[in-house]
Amino acid sequence: MSAARDSDKYATSAHYGGSGRISRAADRRSLTVEATFSLRSEVRLVTDVFAPTTPDLAEVYRPAGRCAAIVDATVDRLHGGALRAYFAAHGIPLTTMVCRALEEDKTFDTVRRMAAFLGGEECDVARDEPVLVVGGGVLTDTAGLACALLNRRTPYVMIGTSIVSAVDAGPSPRTCVNGTLIKNAMGAYHPPVLTLVDRALFRTLAPEHLRHGVAEIVKMGAVDDEGLLVLLQRHGRGLLETRFATTGEDRGLAAIADEVLFRSLYAYLRHEGTNMFETHQDRPHAYGHTWSTKFEPVAGLLHGHAVAVEMAFTATLATLIGWLDEDSRDALLEVCRDLGLAVHHPVIEDLELMRVAQESVRRKRGGSALWAVAPRGGLGKCDYLAEVEDSLLAEAVDRHRVRCAGFPDGGAGLGMYLRDARWS
Ligand SMILES: NC(=O)c1ccc[n+]([C@@H]2O[C@H](COP(=O)([O-])OP(=O)(O)OC[C@H]3O[C@@H](n4cnc5c(N)ncnc54)[C@H](O)[C@@H]3O)[C@@H](O)[C@H]2O)c1
Repeated sequence: MSAARDSDKYATSAHYGGSGRISRAADRRSLTVEATFSLRSEVRLVTDVFAPTTPDLAEVYRPAGRCAAIVDATVDRLHGGALRAYFAAHGIPLTTMVCRALEEDKTFDTVRRMAAFLGGEECDVARDEPVLVVGGGVLTDTAGLACALLNRRTPYVMIGTSIVSAVDAGPSPRTCVNGTLIKNAMGAYHPPVLTLVDRALFRTLAPEHLRHGVAEIVKMGAVDDEGLLVLLQRHGRGLLETRFATTGEDRGLAAIADEVLFRSLYAYLRHEGTNMFETHQDRPHAYGHTWSTKFEPVAGLLHGHAVAVEMAFTATLATLIGWLDEDSRDALLEVCRDLGLAVHHPVIEDLELMRVAQESVRRKRGGSALWAVAPRGGLGKCDYLAEVEDSLLAEAVDRHRVRCAGFPDGGAGLGMYLRDARWS
């Protein structure tokens, strides 16, 4: 019997696969194993995920016979009733752990409590039983890591309830907690087996969280899909005002909202999803995520505003090295400002902090180079800066400061600080 047929017969998972080859050295002094691991991760746009007539969750959890779920506390308050009614309507037992999930909760202690719930007597989740995770980016990152650790790898289904977790953190393989020196520094590559995106859930998002989430969509437009950026130029403000077409009856805008989400997910996944283990740094979705890893916590910015400040600053840097013309840079600044996203913050004028960020990120990206993403040859395309010398960094920071000093608010965003965030 071949090894492949044996591994099928004794498979432990419907979600993951793997195989390996072993070779022996002729001198019988060493053995070498080469192994591959395979996974399947689907992202699906759905309408009214908790309406009993929507089949997606029941299709996963009816065969399992029950559902163990980790739910963001705010989301539970707003949507927990509908979640419980859904499982009750389908006769599927549901056990939930409701978790506070603020940025300060991205810790190992949170992950330990989640793993204790999933692995304890109440749930004792089996190795191939998909956990349900319902919440924003903080919950995604921490509950995803708990699933990565439980049974050494347990599948999970993600319902991204914020814009960030719907289009970026949710389908992302990068589960994590914050490190001592840098954000999101510790974790595991463990994507959900299924991500359900339901924009109806965005109706209850605080305006600040809605706005900063859109920064991740601007990001994909700016470096991968100019058409997406054009959609945001034309409809971005309308999407914010109607919470992604969930507060009115405008069917045209609803179709645009779906198209924006789909394009953003496609742009993201065609890079992230085909490089699940970050084995190379051809990663346009890292735009805005180099220097901001340091200055976001120092300035206390909401993630999307920090990303937007770096996107804008890097666009100015790109004009200095001939990668981007000033009109394109200004067009990007205009999209961000129209949506109320920050394009400048004095924290980037701390050159020592910016240099420390570069050093940390270079190490994080494997040490060979910085690989900072910047638009090149127009918006919707990008390239990677292997290094940014001190003199160029200083010149770009100064040039960007002067450009943004022309704005009455100096380039600030609306509700850009973590402390500004209000809940519905
Ligand atoms: N792993 C990755 O690849 C990745 C990518 C992008 C961002 N992130 C991380 O994601 C986090 C930001 O994500 P976020 O903006 O979702 O933050 P978040 O998880 O803090 O959610 C923001 C707030 O919105 C609330 N919320 C979520 N859904 C809601 C809803 N439908 N209605 C009302 N309130 C709701 C949450 O309770 C929270 O208070 C950051 O920690 C960032 O580092 C991770």
